[in-house]
Formats: sequence, C-alpha cells, structure tokens
Amino acid sequence: MSLFRTKPIDSDLTRDRGLKRVLGAWDLTLLGVGAVIGAGIFVLTGITAATMTGPAVVLSFVLAGIACACAALAYAELASAIGGSGSAYGYGYAALGELPAWIIGWMLLCEYMVAIPAVSAGWSGYFNNGLESLGILLPTAITHTPLDPTTPGLINLPAFVIVLVLGVLLATGAKISAQFNAIMVAVKVAAIAIFIGVAFGHVDPSNWSPFIPPEVTNPDGSKHFGIQGIAAGAATIFFAYLGFDAVSTAADETRNPQRDLPLGILGSLFFCTALYILVSGLLTGIVNYTELNVASPVAHALLKIGQGWAAGLISIGAIAGLTTVMLVMYFGLTRVLFAIAKDGLLPPFFAYVSPKTGTPLGSIIASGVVMLVFAGFVPLGRLAELANIGTLGAFVVVCAGVIVLRKTKPDLKRAFKTPFSPAIPALGVVSCSYLMANLGNHTWVSFGTWMAIGIAVYFLYSRRHSKLAGQ
Ligand code: ALA
Repeated sequence: MSLFRTKPIDSDLTRDRGLKRVLGAWDLTLLGVGAVIGAGIFVLTGITAATMTGPAVVLSFVLAGIACACAALAYAELASAIGGSGSAYGYGYAALGELPAWIIGWMLLCEYMVAIPAVSAGWSGYFNNGLESLGILLPTAITHTPLDPTTPGLINLPAFVIVLVLGVLLATGAKISAQFNAIMVAVKVAAIAIFIGVAFGHVDPSNWSPFIPPEVTNPDGSKHFGIQGIAAGAATIFFAYLGFDAVSTAADETRNPQRDLPLGILGSLFFCTALYILVSGLLTGIVNYTELNVASPVAHALLKIGQGWAAGLISIGAIAGLTTVMLVMYFGLTRVLFAIAKDGLLPPFFAYVSPKTGTPLGSIIASGVVMLVFAGFVPLGRLAELANIGTLGAFVVVCAGVIVLRKTKPDLKRAFKTPFSPAIPALGVVSCSYLMANLGNHTWVSFGTWMAIGIAVYFLYSRRHSKLAGQ
C-alpha cells in the first residue's frame, strides 16, 4: 500500500517554502503566453497543414484546444485547492498517492526536458537565418550536432549558448526572469498582430478549398489528409499548446495562488487558442497549404504575398517567442524537480535554494547540464513528439485526479471548481488519450523507455528516500 501513500494537503497555500513570493495574476498570464506561443505556431503549423491536414489545420487546433481546455480547468481546480510548485506532480501526491505522483512528475520532466532542447534547435535555425541575412555565415561545425543525420558538425553552439544564458537568467531571480519574459512576450505578440493585420487584406478564399483534402495512405500504413489527418495533425500541433501548465509551477512564488493561478492558466490558454485559430486560418488563406512545408512558414507566406518587411519582423518575433518558451519551460522544469526533491524522491541537491537569490539553484544547474548536452550535441528531430506524449499522459492523470478528489475529499476548500464535473474532466481524459493514440509508434517506444527508466529510479532510490517512508 505504501506505493499509494498520500501527502497531507497543506491548506495554507501561502506558507513560506523558501522561494520568494513575487508574482501576481498578470505576471502569470504573461508567463503562460510566454511558454505557449513558439515553435508550434511559428514552425509546426505550416508543416502540419502541408503534410497532414490542409486548411483543416484550424480544426486540429480546435481539437487540441478542447483537450487542453479540459486539462486547464482541471489544473485550475487542483492548483487552487492543493497548490505547490510541483504542479501536477504535487496534486497527484495529495490525491492519488506516491507512485502515481512520481509517474506524473516523470512525465512532466519528459515534457520539459525534451521540449526545451527541441525549441533551442528551432531558435538556432532562426538565429542562423538572421545572421545569414546580415551576411554572416557561421561554419557548419558550430551550427550542427555531431549526430545530425544530414550535415554532422561538432556542436550546435547557438542552441547550447541560449540554454546556458537562460539558466543564468533563471538563477538570478524569478522577478527578473518575469520582467525579461514580459518584454519578449510583447515582441512576439506584436509580431503576430502584424501578421494578422497584413494577412487579413490578402486572403484568397480559393486557398481554403478543398478545406479537407482527400485521404492519402502513407507507405507505413498511416494516413494523412481526410478526418484521420485532422486527428494526427491535432496530436502533432498539440506541441503549440505545451507550456500553459508551467504557470502552475509558479505557485510558491505567487502572492495569492488560489485566485491568481486559475486566472493565469485559463487566461493564457484562452488568449493563445484564439490567436492560433486566427493565425492558422489566415496562413492557409493567403497561400496554398501545399507551399507551407518550410521551416518558417509564417515569414515564408508573407514573402509570397510580397510583404517582405513584415516577414523580417515575424522572424524577430519568432526568435523572441522561442526564447520565452524555453525560459518559462525551464522555470517550470526546475520547480517540478525542486518539489520532487523536497519530498525526498530525488537527491537533496535538487532542492538546494540559493540564499542570495531565492532561486532553486541545484535544479537549475542539474537540469541545465542535461539540456546543454541535448541542445548542443543531440539532434532531437522527431523526438519532439515525445514532449507531446509526456504532457498528454500527465493531463490524463490530472483530469482523472479531479474526479477522484471530488469523491475522496468532497469537503476540501476549492477556490476554483471545474464546471460540469465529472463530464468535463472525463472529456479531458478521453480527448487527451485520443491524441496520445494518434502519435506514431516511434514516439510510443521512446515514451515506454523513458517511463521504464522512471519506474526503475523510483524503486531503486525514491521509494526508500521518500519523506513519507517509515511513517
Ligand atoms: N508551446 C511551445 C511552442 O510552441 C512549446 O514552442
């Protein structure tokens, strides 16, 4: 039974846990927007439209958005009732027990540790393009990883350096990081607003027809276009939504978590979903979807309609966007590690807080080293889908957690309640599982391997070192 021992819920969510409480609802919403809008919209939308969905990529965004909305409501309820910087891991510990909590935590680590280096590769691409347009060409040896299948180099230096810089920024303090984030969010949202403004005047409705191109069977038996393509597209494009959950990891640095966390989580998700639907609709309206299979589809489409000036601004917005995604996800990652280590399930080094800056320095360094290796030396490519499956797995358990906790702890004070429970959380379980089922076999194999390692760590280390052991 000790696998299911639960942590008592600390009803005082504003208790001092060693981190500085400096963030409000507005900071949190900006953090959410910071974490969400990035490679998904600036890179994946075009590729997904061209190779999986056609103009119906809008429907993929709606489908993935529905799954996220259910999960966001569940997150909001649990964050307002249980709180803690461990996010879904912490909710799982209070509601479901230690092993399920560990599994959720391990999935969150998968989300962040894969997504950040994957986004850093996209950042490096945009950065190199920017330098090239200024006439500066970096040698392949320092822009490609040694394992790159097409053009091997020595190190992806830009990707390596940006992760290092963000680690240093996070180590200096949550408030400084939040201020830096706010400026970069303004830049990326302005770039998207410019795109929307310019694109509106150039839509050619014939580009939306056929809206759902006919189904095609791939050599491996999978399908694209048609209804099946929309589902597969939603599972891929889900990457664009990753990150809003990182808001909940800032609970211990939030002044009034019960009120501000639900506002931050739901506000940022709502804002991003609306932008995504608009942008993807316009993108496939101004150029034909067949032309969007490029690394920078938004800028590419603007060039196609003769708006080169706007294309340049979009690239600046994309670099800002990808930077904030990595910053906030890195922030979330360190808070989850910190919380797990505080409970004894990871070595104490991960829980070390710098007395000077009040930031979890141990987690920042430990996770930073792993991600520097990934960013600099490993081509992540299709592994990015691993971030999706890890997140979806965690969302399934969080939605289920709301249903379980309503039964097991009906009297718990919930500052925010998911409406129409258990219908909405159940819809979250079904829709997230459905998206998981639409991810490819290679993703499932990597995910299975990752989870097997996690279970081994739990039984070899965490179970015995848990603060709840022997109680
Ligand atoms: N949602 C983040 C992005 O699209 C991970 O880059």
